Amino acid sequence: MKFSAPKGMQDILPPDIYIWQNVEEVARELFHKYGFQEIRVPIVESTDIFIRSIGETTDIVEKEMYTFTDKGGRSITLRPEGTAPVVRCYVEHNLYNLPSPQKFFYTGAMFRYERPQKGRFRQFYQIGAEAFGVSQPSLDAEIIVMLKNLLEKIGIAGLNFELNSIGCDKCRPDYKNALLKFFKSKLAIYCPDCQRRYRTNPLRILDCKVPGCVELRKGAPYVKDYLCNDCREHFNELIFSLKELKIPYTLNPNLVRGLDYYTRTTFEVTSEHLGAQKAVAAGGRYDRLVEEFGGPPTPAMGFAIGMERLATLLKEKSEQKIPSPKVFIATLGRDAEMEGFKIAESIRSSGCWIEPNYGGASLKSQMRKADRIGAEFVLIIGDNELKAGKVQWKNLKNSQQGEVEIKDIASIIQKLSDYIPK
Ligand code: HAM
Repeated sequence: MKFSAPKGMQDILPPDIYIWQNVEEVARELFHKYGFQEIRVPIVESTDIFIRSIGETTDIVEKEMYTFTDKGGRSITLRPEGTAPVVRCYVEHNLYNLPSPQKFFYTGAMFRYERPQKGRFRQFYQIGAEAFGVSQPSLDAEIIVMLKNLLEKIGIAGLNFELNSIGCDKCRPDYKNALLKFFKSKLAIYCPDCQRRYRTNPLRILDCKVPGCVELRKGAPYVKDYLCNDCREHFNELIFSLKELKIPYTLNPNLVRGLDYYTRTTFEVTSEHLGAQKAVAAGGRYDRLVEEFGGPPTPAMGFAIGMERLATLLKEKSEQKIPSPKVFIATLGRDAEMEGFKIAESIRSSGCWIEPNYGGASLKSQMRKADRIGAEFVLIIGDNELKAGKVQWKNLKNSQQGEVEIKDIASIIQKLSDYIPK
């Protein structure tokens, strides 16, 4: 019987994993400079946390959550995203008592029971960042700049930053009413999902990808015309900062996002190279959520990057370097093998990837193996070498070879490494 990974879930293997590790390393280093500290939250939370934050009538909560009852009868959900758990953590640990802003980042698996397709998985990974305690649009700008810097640092440029403001509790009701009025006359010819959205969250109709609905919504009222003074000022200042910082962006009045917790700024970073699932990262403000979770009123803003989509872009962009061992130690006989292990240990401490021989094979087949695994350098130890206290070495890239005393190996590591093309 042969098993395969669950539908919509995948294994991340070498060499792809090196792309992921590099992104995570660069992100850690960069986020740190902006004051974002790593936190780890559980992979499951009480189901209510997601219902209360993402919204009862969203696709995620209605159709996509992996929810189960645990042995204690509690309803538990595999996290479909990271913002709600981070807010729960922020409030639970009274982190609002610490000096503002508090900034956090996280990496990890998220789960959504979606229809799998290119760039859309049921288990996927995000790197997310969330900042608490600043209402000024300078935070929005800083977070967007940080994301742009990260993408550039890992080698992705030319992505599209789409931007919108969806207002606040004060002005959004007026906008919703305007939309309801606009959609009402033709409601019967919208897709069934949009007919449902009309009742539950009419803003989401703006986000529908069904061609008929896209056509029908032409001429729908723009949210920017309904923003209250505070929201308009916030948005204008953000745009001003982005211009000052020379961050290109496009305004997308239909960017309403599929999660209900957003207020004011919403944004998405998209690529034309990804097909239908073109958002590499997305985020926005959620100024009400901390309060909703029982904390004091605390403005907040964040984003999350989809790792699979990012990895796809990086893979398309450049040929992947597949790491291989620097040194293979070929040994003949048990004593030589033991000596080989000792030598391997001393060389590893210099930071090289060393592969020893695990016994049995002829020298010829060991040399073939060294070549196949891409080793750059072979050390050869046999009975004669052991007696003489020496090791033969061969550089497989340029065929240089020679002999060195075993006792000198550690001290000449650096010299040996000189023969190893970096
Ligand atoms: P989101 O737009 O649902 O936002 O997801 C963020 C990113 O995760 C997407 O842009 C996409 O790259 C990736 N993603 C989402 N679903 C999938 C999937 N099924 N398969 C592969 N990749 C996927 C959030 O999750 C918010 N928590 C972002 C945020 C943080 N807002 C404020 N702070």
